[in-house]
Amino acid sequence: MNVHTPNIITVASGKGGVGKTSFTLNMAHVLATHGGKVLVVDGDTGLANADVQLNLTPKASLADVLAHRCTLAEAITPTPHGFHLLAGSSGHMGLATLALPTLAGWMNELHSLGETYSTILVDAAAGISPTTLLMCAQSSRALLLTTPDPASLTDAYALIKVLWQQHGVNNTQVVMNQATAREAAQVHTRLAKAVEGFLQLPPPPLVGQVPQCKYWSQAVRSHQLVAQVFPKSPGVEALSSLARHVMALKP
Ligand SMILES: Nc1ncnc2c1ncn2[C@@H]1O[C@H](COP(=O)(O)OP(=O)(O)OP(=O)(O)O)[C@@H](O)[C@H]1O
Ligand SMILES: [Mg+2]
Repeated sequence: MNVHTPNIITVASGKGGVGKTSFTLNMAHVLATHGGKVLVVDGDTGLANADVQLNLTPKASLADVLAHRCTLAEAITPTPHGFHLLAGSSGHMGLATLALPTLAGWMNELHSLGETYSTILVDAAAGISPTTLLMCAQSSRALLLTTPDPASLTDAYALIKVLWQQHGVNNTQVVMNQATAREAAQVHTRLAKAVEGFLQLPPPPLVGQVPQCKYWSQAVRSHQLVAQVFPKSPGVEALSSLARHVMALKP
């Protein structure tokens, strides 16, 4: 393995709205404060909004790269939060209906950024679209965000199942968001039993749990990162422990 291969991690979820974008941006900031060189890719090819959460207006986006209007390097924007961003495009049908070979080629290109970045976090669209599945399959790991909500858990199981059936890949690790430690352990046990029992696969490990945090939406609404404005809050402390795990992952 090339020593400069970056650690590409896709943040995915079966159900929407479980906290992927805010998790990704805050994790990127925490990793950067630990010395990581981090790129966030807004991989939501339908309704991208990482730039909106950060209140940035990037000059170029993933859509421009895929349409050959600029290079990957030219489309990347520095942010004031210690990491770089490759923005997506919202409501762009060309991206929403992206041909998979084009996306696969572009994911390969991401690997060439190993000289520049130690970690690349891809914020994928919720669900089991072919695009999200390919992003997961071509990453070193997929961090699967779920909440204790039964629908979120069922959809997380569906993502693990379809990723295995369509790509032969079982690389997910679970992050339980908006959960107490007890809820996280209970819900993870249910998911692990389903994966072992129905799919006969080694269950995805539970690698982190982030509590419900009252500061989270407060920060999001003011386009700030909770990790920056409330660094000592329980949610951010949980992100910091998980950051140590993310940094130790091998490409
Ligand atoms: N640990 C948490 N505690 C409290 N609120 C949270 C937490 N994590 C996320 N949220 C809130 O959940 C909402 C949805 O978050 P976010 O937009 O990051 O989800 P998403 O998974 O990216 O959604 P989508 O699937 O639409 O892309 C936001 O208002 C955010 O503030
Ligand atoms: Mg999102």
